[in-house]
Amino acid sequence: MERPLAYDKLAREDRFVRMRGRRVAELKVAQGLPPFPDLASRESIKERVHGILVGELQAMEGAGRSVYDFPDAPWEFTLDMARQVWDESRHVEVYLRLLEHLDGYVGEFPETTILWRCACAEDAAARVAGVNRGLEGLACDVFNQLIHIARKIGDPILEHAVDYVLADEITHVRMGSKWLDRLTEGDPERRRRAIEFQETIDERFNLGGIRREGDPEAVPISIATEARRLAGFTDEEIDRLIKATQRSPVY
Ligand SMILES: [Fe+2]
Ligand SMILES: [Fe+2]
Repeated sequence: MERPLAYDKLAREDRFVRMRGRRVAELKVAQGLPPFPDLASRESIKERVHGILVGELQAMEGAGRSVYDFPDAPWEFTLDMARQVWDESRHVEVYLRLLEHLDGYVGEFPETTILWRCACAEDAAARVAGVNRGLEGLACDVFNQLIHIARKIGDPILEHAVDYVLADEITHVRMGSKWLDRLTEGDPERRRRAIEFQETIDERFNLGGIRREGDPEAVPISIATEARRLAGFTDEEIDRLIKATQRSPVY
């Protein structure tokens, strides 16, 4: 596969601050802060929104990369990925405005490339499983929770904007399920490897039990069972994810 860009060379304006995920977590723990924003304050919500903003940027870049990386994939696959670039670019716009709405600015918090690195799988089936089902499944969890919190604190702008983006993410998960099936038709080994890759991503983003089942106002990241059902995850898959969160190692 040709690589026009190394994964750690994403183009950014100077106002963005890049840092290793591990370093960010260490610095926070050293300052007595939770390693992941707990959404208990407006400041914490702003930090989460900043994290989502850079995630949307990387999702846009990842889908763009999938347009380019798989010239032999069916034309409809490339079209779906191009459509996703367009969706993600709108999400970037939405989250830029939400960050302003919360009195934040780009670069106020560091950007890590954990999400982008997941978008660099070499096989198209593994990539849609990992990104569209793993990472965008995580987006469903995070957005659903943010909608709950926004409703609770009486912020209809945040509530409705995130709800609008969630509707798109649900279609992206569905798109991932469709292409996982089509690309691995008649090749159970390829399918197994792709699902395994997705499971490593699910495991990583369980964040040592930070993501779990429960009240969105009481746990740091709650599993959005209803949104996940809408996105086409089976009850068995949702159950497996819930069980996996109960035995994740500490982040
Ligand atoms: Fe998105
Ligand atoms: Fe998406």
